[in-house]
Amino acid sequence: MKQNRPLSTLCLLAIALVRASAFGEQATSPANSSRPEPLPKQFTILDSITGSRTLSNGIEIQSGKAVMQITALREDVLRVRVGPHGQLPEDASWAVLPESRSASTTVSAEEDSASVGFHTAALRVRVERATMRLRITDLKGAVVQEDAANRPIEFHGRAFRIHKTMPPEEHYFGLGDKPGTLDRRDHAYHLWNTDSYGFQESTDPIYKAIPFFLTSRRGITAAVLLDNTWRTSFDFGKESPDAYSFGSEGGPLDYYILYGPDAKNVLSTYTWLTGPTPLPPLWSFGFQQSRFTYHPESEVRALADRLRADKIPVDAIYLDIDFQDHHRPFTVDQIQFAHFSQMIADLRKQDLHVVAITDLHIADLPNAQYAPYDSGIAGDHFVKNPDNSVYVGKVWPGPSVFPDFTRKSTRKWWGSLYAQFVQDGISGFWNDMNEPSVFDGPKGTMPDDVQHRIGEPGFQQRTTSHLEIHNVYGMENSRATYDGLLKLSPNQRPFVLTRASYAGGQRYAATWTGDNSSTWNHLRLTTPMLLNLGLSGFGMSGADVGGFVGSPGPELLTKWFELGAFQPIDRDHACDISASQEIWVHGPEQEAIRKRYIEERYKLMPYLYTAAEEMSRTGLPIVRPLFLEFPDATKDKHPMDLDAGNEFLFGGNLLVAPAVYPEKPDAYSVELPSVSWYNYWTGEKVDEGTWSDGAPALNDPGFIGRKITIKPQLDILPVFVREGSILPLQPLVQSTSETPKGPLILRVYPGKDCKGSLYMDDGQSFAYKHGDFLRMEFTCSETPNGITVHIGPHQGSYLPWWKNLQVEVYGSNSSSPKASIAGSGEKVESSFDALRHATTLLMPDNGSGRDVQVEWTQ
Ligand code: GLC
Repeated sequence: MKQNRPLSTLCLLAIALVRASAFGEQATSPANSSRPEPLPKQFTILDSITGSRTLSNGIEIQSGKAVMQITALREDVLRVRVGPHGQLPEDASWAVLPESRSASTTVSAEEDSASVGFHTAALRVRVERATMRLRITDLKGAVVQEDAANRPIEFHGRAFRIHKTMPPEEHYFGLGDKPGTLDRRDHAYHLWNTDSYGFQESTDPIYKAIPFFLTSRRGITAAVLLDNTWRTSFDFGKESPDAYSFGSEGGPLDYYILYGPDAKNVLSTYTWLTGPTPLPPLWSFGFQQSRFTYHPESEVRALADRLRADKIPVDAIYLDIDFQDHHRPFTVDQIQFAHFSQMIADLRKQDLHVVAITDLHIADLPNAQYAPYDSGIAGDHFVKNPDNSVYVGKVWPGPSVFPDFTRKSTRKWWGSLYAQFVQDGISGFWNDMNEPSVFDGPKGTMPDDVQHRIGEPGFQQRTTSHLEIHNVYGMENSRATYDGLLKLSPNQRPFVLTRASYAGGQRYAATWTGDNSSTWNHLRLTTPMLLNLGLSGFGMSGADVGGFVGSPGPELLTKWFELGAFQPIDRDHACDISASQEIWVHGPEQEAIRKRYIEERYKLMPYLYTAAEEMSRTGLPIVRPLFLEFPDATKDKHPMDLDAGNEFLFGGNLLVAPAVYPEKPDAYSVELPSVSWYNYWTGEKVDEGTWSDGAPALNDPGFIGRKITIKPQLDILPVFVREGSILPLQPLVQSTSETPKGPLILRVYPGKDCKGSLYMDDGQSFAYKHGDFLRMEFTCSETPNGITVHIGPHQGSYLPWWKNLQVEVYGSNSSSPKASIAGSGEKVESSFDALRHATTLLMPDNGSGRDVQVEWTQ
């Protein structure tokens, strides 16, 4: 039954209109027409030191009435706070973990006639007496960051701006999901969470506000977190060619400087500061099928049956807004889904998890037995207008009210709303529209004067305007969901997908890039967006495969499926007015290609999950720019990604090289960092052979690596393996619930620094925190006429599904290899596959580790 369809389409048209008008405003200044009070006009520049005081962990400086404190949290992390009227801002944060915010290290004070400052074991901090310029260098004197000569810090009433020098060789990354180029240099951005239906390359602002960016100059990487939830802005050279600046319309001047010098260290420090992405459930790495919107129940069941009948490996099906009764969150349309919990149970029997949308807008329905409204009103959980009435705005259900998520008690109430759905067996939840999107609100959101209460440990209890809360609203929504799910099922890892967030939001939810379009340009935009999200803490992310707005043609959809297989989240999703976008549309030939990529993702699952576990410990994202792993790839140490099209790394060892213009048949060049590479698909060593029918290209002066030319083919996404990798793979399964049958596969790609690892656990609970995991480390070393592969012992108590190991050594040409276990001399079954350039060894895995020696004989 489709009785809701016309309504949702109407809604979609309505939102499209609202969204379109919001885009119109984005070209101009983000000034708010409905701002409650005009900005005070005072203009303050902090431009000379009038007094200073040494602190054990830093320095406090006076400039007239203003006070500035620079403290060292660690030898490589500084915090700068400024109060223009003599008082430092409130020491509280939604982003930074309390234990990191209160960390402190002793510094050595330094001062002379020109400056005051201090040094830590890694950094020297100087503030010029005459100008108040802050200069940070490493202990050898290399500049990490310095204020601009003119007006380093200025206040206009409650707004402020900080200016830093911008040398020509410095590049900028991060700022969350902003579309456009990977490098933020020469662009300017506003951070104000915005529902950006059909966003384009230059749309700004969009869904998330992550005021965190990395700076990279001649191999020195640092970063800035501007911990300010108001409308902030960042200008990397738009206003001035030699200075970048950042500031806010209000709120605290409170920022952190994180020093690398290598980018990996910066990311792990950011993780220390704001917390890691918790290890997601294994099923969330499987293929996910979504659409706005599958209904009624028979359509969902038919979808599941078709996916299984076509043997498309898949783990999740999404229920978008039309499964609800009149789009009311936490309800089910009882006519269309008459056997809702039975349906979910049946899907679980087909190894399918259900993810349901639970938007934050609660329908404004007094006296209608709508429990979320009734309990919310009874608990005083909704945000208010200045006159203390409950604020009402239109979203999918019509007039709606909005939870006051910055109150701990409201978050607890929100979390409790999930009880029935959890009992029904729903595995994951999707918090959408949480910028918040309000169809009839000014600029598509709440008015600035909506009142939010802060009832949060560590913060002063107070009521504040939407201007302060807007950018953290979505994050606190997803936090309420995450915490609520944990409370309901303490031993299940929650899966929450959020559209809006703020710095630190990775602690609660994965994200996606919102309403992208089914165009080649959007396929292209996907990679820099996911890379910058990963550099901003959100390593668990995806872009709607096939594009949300519009309908992809056969080749575009196929290419998108290929790329999606190498995204942290692989979800096919489309709008209600788009054509069908499931894998089988456009016929069996296209389906076969698309399916091969999903299958490859499932074979790579042990590698992907190992990368996810690394992310959860270190903050290293699953998809990575090349400069993270190859900081020295260019002679002048500029990030090599700037010359490398849309290449990216999937985990630490696979380099994915889509064409920048995949719609064109022209050959394109791929830049590979200066180690040796193998063709992932054929096993061939790239520097010895060729890539498909492309020929190796000549070296380019200034570039240390190697370039190859690739002739695009519809069914091939070029993927390369770095030499010295050992990748764990598994036999093909149809979902992550299925136990693989056969051996664990270790693909060994000999070369420098040869190693690999494997992590696994039950994929769903927290038992791994108590030792119930399995970790294995591998290395390999070349011998005069062969190779030794070291297989480490099993660590942890989790029992693997395999009994045997299949070790595949690539890059050899020996037709009759001999293999044995070092020490015992025990023979190992081996064979050679000339097509795949691989020697395959089969042996039992007794868990205690062993060295296998392979000798090549001709
Ligand atoms: C928003 C979301 C989209 C979803 C739709 C209906 O546009 O971004 O993914 O399908 O709302 O819930």
